[in-house]
Amino acid sequence: MTVEDEAVRIGADFFQDPHRLYSELRRTGPVRRVVLPRGVLGWLVTRHADAKAVLSDPRLSKDFVRAGELLERNREPGSPRPEFGEELQAHMLNMDPPDHTRLRKLVNKAFTVRGVGHLRPRVEQITESLLEAIAEADEVDLIPALAFPVPMTVICELLGVPAADREAFGGWTRVLLSTSASTVEITEAGVAVGAYVMELIESKRSAPAEDLLTALVEAREDGDRLSENELLSMTFLLLLAGHETTVNLIANGVLSLLRAPAQAAALRANPALLPRAVEEFLRFESPVNTATMRYTTEPVVVAGVEIPADEFVVVAIGSANRDAAAFPDPDTVDIERELNAHLAFGHGIHYCVGAPLARMEAEVAIGGLLARFPDLALTGTPLQWRESTIIRGLHSLPVRLGRTP
Ligand code: HEM
Repeated sequence: MTVEDEAVRIGADFFQDPHRLYSELRRTGPVRRVVLPRGVLGWLVTRHADAKAVLSDPRLSKDFVRAGELLERNREPGSPRPEFGEELQAHMLNMDPPDHTRLRKLVNKAFTVRGVGHLRPRVEQITESLLEAIAEADEVDLIPALAFPVPMTVICELLGVPAADREAFGGWTRVLLSTSASTVEITEAGVAVGAYVMELIESKRSAPAEDLLTALVEAREDGDRLSENELLSMTFLLLLAGHETTVNLIANGVLSLLRAPAQAAALRANPALLPRAVEEFLRFESPVNTATMRYTTEPVVVAGVEIPADEFVVVAIGSANRDAAAFPDPDTVDIERELNAHLAFGHGIHYCVGAPLARMEAEVAIGGLLARFPDLALTGTPLQWRESTIIRGLHSLPVRLGRTP
């Protein structure tokens, strides 16, 4: 990681400690030229007020067709461009109104607070059986034991994805989100995911079931509200966003607690604090962290810097959420923090549709873990963060479970 006069370069060492660079940038240059891995050029926005303004500014677009063209112009010459599945890109996160509005309406209802409330008993059951499976262990890696399978099982059950396919899907998405995977690996994972999702949709056509994917297939067939390409992309987005983010909310949340034992004790003593604690975990180590992207459709001034038209703006949500101008004592975990206006789920029309589900899953998984293992502790093995500009998450989270009560 280097901070030069001209551009900030995000290299492999950044991921192990992004907060050092973030805090320097918020102080010295809150809107800076950035070179992302794979040579993508943009403007990095690191302060809370600017990030919030950018995320909801209609002059900034997410339309993926034009973004693809702009990528050719806004890249360091000679950087390899991994190609993956154009047919998977026609989803709402890559669209502006009115297409965005039309697509979002199709799934909005399923993910509202009321829509996910009835899933809580099932999430509790999944969590309990995962905790039961490790009850006798001494040490475990909490990611495969709990943080990954809870959201993965839930989103797959919601959409109607067979249990046997879940590991394979998780493997492909980890490659797609990694900045260290080769272009060949990324291309292959993209092809595999595309083929898999297409097959899944065909299976719902021939055998409709009581699940969200069947509902989407029927919306497609029932008067052109959704094109085939959009159906494919929507399924991919929901599967990807449904688990790749929440696994890190759970794991990063547990890590934050284990590094602040007084906070863990306070939460054990008063589980009613769980919803507020989850908001603090979202803020403190935001699962979607460095590069939430848009591009300018006209010149836009951010924090006094004029960004020309047709350039990428990269919002560092993980930095905005540590801005002292918005959060007193931002580098401290405080599960009782009041007025926690974090941007972990974004802001504006693309605000995360899965937020109520992610919150509920994290409350159940973290609450269940704390209740069952009062002596839970880190093993002391050095932790390694994944190299991804989108996701902030650990490769593994080894813990000592201690006795069960
Ligand atoms: C959008 C974060 C969980 C589905 C977003 C955005 C963020 C985000 C920051 C906005 C990106 C932007 O504006 O460019 C997170 C975090 C999660 C999480 C931190 C967990 C802790 C989920 C889950 C689902 C989901 C569980 C699905 C079940 C989506 C979808 C969008 C989205 C579909 C696009 C919404 C739109 O374009 O209108 N998420 N998400 N997310 N998220 Fe999540």
